[in-house]
Amino acid sequence: MAIDNLLVFGATGTQGHPVVDAALEEGFRVRAASRNPEAAAEKLSTKAEIVYADLLDGESLDEAMAGMSALFFHLPVMPDSPEADLMISHVIEAARRNSLRRLVVTTGGYCGPAMPDRPFVAGLRRMADRFLASGIDCVVLRPTLYLANLVWPHLIRQLRETGRLSYPPLSRKRRMNWTATEDQGRIAVACLNAPVAGETLDIASPGVVDSAALCRLLAKVYQREVHFDPQSLDDFADGMSHLSGSADVGRQMARFYADLDALPLEAPVVDTDALAQRLGVQLTPIEVWMDERLGALLSLYG
Ligand SMILES: NC(=O)c1ccc[n+]([C@@H]2O[C@H](COP(=O)([O-])OP(=O)(O)OC[C@H]3O[C@@H](n4cnc5c(N)ncnc54)[C@H](OP(=O)(O)O)[C@@H]3O)[C@@H](O)[C@H]2O)c1
Repeated sequence: MAIDNLLVFGATGTQGHPVVDAALEEGFRVRAASRNPEAAAEKLSTKAEIVYADLLDGESLDEAMAGMSALFFHLPVMPDSPEADLMISHVIEAARRNSLRRLVVTTGGYCGPAMPDRPFVAGLRRMADRFLASGIDCVVLRPTLYLANLVWPHLIRQLRETGRLSYPPLSRKRRMNWTATEDQGRIAVACLNAPVAGETLDIASPGVVDSAALCRLLAKVYQREVHFDPQSLDDFADGMSHLSGSADVGRQMARFYADLDALPLEAPVVDTDALAQRLGVQLTPIEVWMDERLGALLSLYG
């Protein structure tokens, strides 16, 4: 029997909200989990049922999963932390108790085989392995960098005021795909009934760009010249420490980008045509995302 319902963890966040929207759009019954249902109700469609759940409290997950067939999960904490292991155990155990039929899990970060096994990437791989070995049909999604990162307020301010693009801290020559969170939502929903159980899928949005191409696309939206002038890794680590409130997160993220930049030049590049065809989804080319999504967000911010 086809799966027709989905429980979304992280439903109020950048990652989970588009999964809620995509599932509703496709006619699924959606239950959105949050530690603060009242605040979640303000953010999410009234068509979604909202339920309290705290991933650190295993018992709360039973109520959230009761009567559901599938769930979407990402880690809301650093993957090498003790909380991460606890959250993963809680989700897998509650999913077994409640006979869930399919788990769609995203690593949220690129951790393809060529990435060195440092704590961040090793933690993501450990999470993926635990879900794939859970005995429940599971698919792991491995996205590239998020286009949503280009909406960080300090980047918008810098681009508007100086035309300087300081992110990502990668070499000018690196060509890669980026990923729209809206596409991640559509892909996650398509994975609910596709024959992909047991697989790990690299996912991205169409269009492979280097820094010059990225600047040209941004120049069109910002209606000014844009130049790539990446932050040093030390400055990036400082900025990330500030954003996340943790020096360890800053250091680990800077290391992650350094490792990404040391990959062969054609990585991470994803065959998005094959992905779209296999899952029967329409993905958003990067230039369309820039024109439509970023353009709309910039007008919203005034
Ligand atoms: N590759 C990239 O470029 C990139 C960029 C940004 C983010 N990411 C990844 O995307 C993922 C999510 O990031 P995000 O920006 O979406 O985070 P976010 O917007 O801050 O959202 C975090 C979500 O997790 C939920 N959450 C946090 N702690 C929880 C708990 N104890 N129990 C239940 N729910 C909890 C929150 O729900 P409530 O507060 O409603 O409970 C919220 O919906 C992460 O895996 C991150 O690594 C990747």
